Amino acid sequence: MTRARYTLTTAIAYVNGAPHLGHAYEAILTDALARFARLDGREVLFLTGTDEHGEKVAATAHIEGVPTKAFADRNAAAFRDMGRDLAISNDDFIRTTEPRHAVAAQELWRRLQDAGAIYLGKYEGWYSVREEAYFAESELNTDPATGDRLTPNGTQAQWVEEPSYFFRLSDYADKLLDLYETNPGFLRPETRLNEVRAFVAGGLRDLSVSRLAARLEWGVPVPGDDAHVMYVWVDALTNYLTGCGFPGDMGDRWPADLHVIGKDITRFHAVYWPAFLMAAGLPLPRSIFAHGFITIAGVKMSKSLGNIVAPGDLLADFGVDATRYLLLREIPHGADGSFAHAHAVARLNADLANGVGNLAQRTLSLIYKNCDGRIPEPGALTDADTALLRAGRAELLPVLRAYMADCAAHKALESIVDLAARADGYIDAAAPWALRTTDPARMETVLYVLADVIRCIAVALQFAMPGKAGALLDQLAVPQDARDFRALADAPLAPGAAIGKPEGLFARFTAPEA
Ligand code: MSP
Repeated sequence: MTRARYTLTTAIAYVNGAPHLGHAYEAILTDALARFARLDGREVLFLTGTDEHGEKVAATAHIEGVPTKAFADRNAAAFRDMGRDLAISNDDFIRTTEPRHAVAAQELWRRLQDAGAIYLGKYEGWYSVREEAYFAESELNTDPATGDRLTPNGTQAQWVEEPSYFFRLSDYADKLLDLYETNPGFLRPETRLNEVRAFVAGGLRDLSVSRLAARLEWGVPVPGDDAHVMYVWVDALTNYLTGCGFPGDMGDRWPADLHVIGKDITRFHAVYWPAFLMAAGLPLPRSIFAHGFITIAGVKMSKSLGNIVAPGDLLADFGVDATRYLLLREIPHGADGSFAHAHAVARLNADLANGVGNLAQRTLSLIYKNCDGRIPEPGALTDADTALLRAGRAELLPVLRAYMADCAAHKALESIVDLAARADGYIDAAAPWALRTTDPARMETVLYVLADVIRCIAVALQFAMPGKAGALLDQLAVPQDARDFRALADAPLAPGAAIGKPEGLFARFTAPEA
């Protein structure tokens, strides 16, 4: 029996600041995959949320002079709002400060302890508060100006010595290497798996998994030892189980099919997480996809450079559907993508206003004027008609499926826009406006073929632009129950259905003055 449920997750964002375009991208990419799976007939569980514990959040709240919980509440709300504004269709939103999550994290801890995978020791070493991560001496650089020790990512590392619980990560190197060997799709793209494999092959040290509550209260208490709170990554990773109902019966919700994360947190997801799960005797996630980073005109977004783009900035300029389209289309598969406003305008105009939008507007206006506002009745089909219909009804979906299985939403969208361009070529060659007087029956056939291809384009576009694609399907009078991927081949447009007065759906934008 094939397992129908498809569980996928985003990383859960730190609440030490407001959401930016990088968070928006991850949410939109994962949402596109979730919507695609639903359109493809799968039952989906799509989880997202916020990572609220840890030193970084506590320290930022302190600097801002706000109680930590109030600070976390405020920023968690900003992430929730971002999801709503971007039409993210998550089924749950897990906050790691919720009681249900503490229950899950503590139960995982107990299982690790029962399995003998956790022991009390003493932590001595380098730690970056900014990254909430430990570093080996050999990984650090020294800032020549200040003498500060810096991590490979340029944040300050400090020397820490304290009693700490440890997870026996060193026991898992061989098992992890085995996992990568037998399941090379466990972490994609392959370059990321290679990095992680090299890290593991270099040898693993046991991992400090607790902090002294005296120094950091802001965390999930270690069960049976209130002097410690859990290391934030143990707590954070467990959110994926919390969202599946752990420690209750998780049914077919776990294991997750896909964790979507950024390339900076592969070590946590592809090394620590499977090791914890192996130790606890729980199934491993099926795959992890690490996307690239969004840069602003080629430069990393950062507060100090003052080039942070908030999702709201794009929403104000372009609206939700175009914003989603842009991020999905512009960020290539697994690589970094540079965001620039002028380029965004050119992309939206080419693909949407002049592409899909123009095709739909031309076709629907002709139908509205010349066919009494009803979907026309096709007559005998030519080879060109059949080929175009086949492209929309049958050939598009397998291509989209292959790209989306690879998380390559930009390629999927490219193929949809290519189909619109092909339909544009067809309309120019068939010139239905000229057939009106010479061969009205042929005109009706041509307009039917075009309308049905536009239906297929709109059905396909729903995963990226649910609002605009839905509005286009409304214009075509496509019933709500004929909008999933099965309908591509099975539910062609019904001749005679009345269409609304066509209205341009895709705005043409102008680039700001340079
Ligand atoms: N809290 C951890 C994740 C815990 S998951 C169990 C964390 N939070 S984060 O807020 O720093 O990042 C959340 C996600 O956003 C991560 O997947 C991260 O890679 C991604 N991004 C952060 N900045 C980004 C860009 N500039 N571009 C694209 N994604 C980026 O890490």
